[in-house]
This record gives sequence, C-alpha cells and structure tokens, in this order.
Amino acid sequence: MAATRTFSIIKPDATRRNLTGAVTKMLEDAGLRVVASKRIHMTREQAEGFYAVHKERPFFGELVEFMMSEPVVVQVLEGEDAVAKNREVMGATNPADAAPGTIRKELALSIGENTVHGSDSEENAAIEIAYFFKDEEIVG
Ligand code: PPS
Repeated sequence: MAATRTFSIIKPDATRRNLTGAVTKMLEDAGLRVVASKRIHMTREQAEGFYAVHKERPFFGELVEFMMSEPVVVQVLEGEDAVAKNREVMGATNPADAAPGTIRKELALSIGENTVHGSDSEENAAIEIAYFFKDEEIVG
C-alpha cells in the first residue's frame, strides 16, 4: 500500500510537561514518519476555526481555551494507512477508555487534556494539513 498522510497535534498538556519527544517517539515507533513539524501558539481564530465542526458541543469553549493555553506542535505524519495507524497509537478520546500502550492511556490527563489530536479520515487530514502547512513545508 502506498504511503498516506495524516495530521497530528501534540496538545498543550504534553508540551507543558515536556513530552513532545515522548509523544513523537510513540508515533515513530508505530511506523509513522514526521514529514513536517512546527511549534506554534494557536490564536483564538486558529483554534475556533480548526474546531468549528464542534462549535455546538458543550465543551467547545473549554476546548478552544485549552488549545490556546500553551504552545502546541503541529505535525504531518506519513506512513502506510497513516490515519488508521495514528488513531490506533493515539487510543480512545477518553484516556480512561484507551487501550494499554496507547499515547492517551500512557500520557493523557483527561478527556479534555488528552495529549494528541489526529485526523479521523483522509479527507479531513488533507483539510487539516492545509490549515497549518504550506506544501513547501512538507518534506517527505
Ligand atoms: S472524536 O475524536 O472526534 O471522535 O472525539 P470527540 O469525542 O468527538 O471529541 C472531539 C474533540 O473534542 C475533545 N473533547 C473534549 N474537550 C474538552 N472537554 C470534553 N469533555 C471533551 N470531549 C471531547 C476531544 O479531545 C477531541 O479533540 P481532538 O483534538 O479532535 O482530539
């Protein structure tokens, strides 16, 4: 199968605890290659735009405030079946439900402070990658 791409965010609870390297190692050990990466401090506009699909959900305000609270690391990951592979290594949204050995089981603090974001489809991956990266910033 040809390599595909997905989009990942290492969230503020992880950058705050100096876990950028630990998270990246778990992604790499799962067979994903980091082909673009940058540390940014999201603006309100960026966070609200990124999570616009969730704007009617009760936790929207909390989610936006959290994503703006500290720097994040946005990444493009490449590998065979990258979306599925990334979601497998991330684990369930709520760390209490995540399987042992997954990023969220091992590192996440709560359903909100859950360490990583990963695209849920190839279609959304393309949209999310384009939201944060120019083509020339991605080096496969
Ligand atoms: S998913 O992955 O879309 O099926 O998960 P979902 O439950 O729909 O959650 C979407 C994102 O919202 C975050 N989330 C929350 N944040 C704060 N408080 C609560 N209660 C909460 N529940 C869900 C969740 O971490 C997802 O963030 P991303 O960045 O998309 O992983």
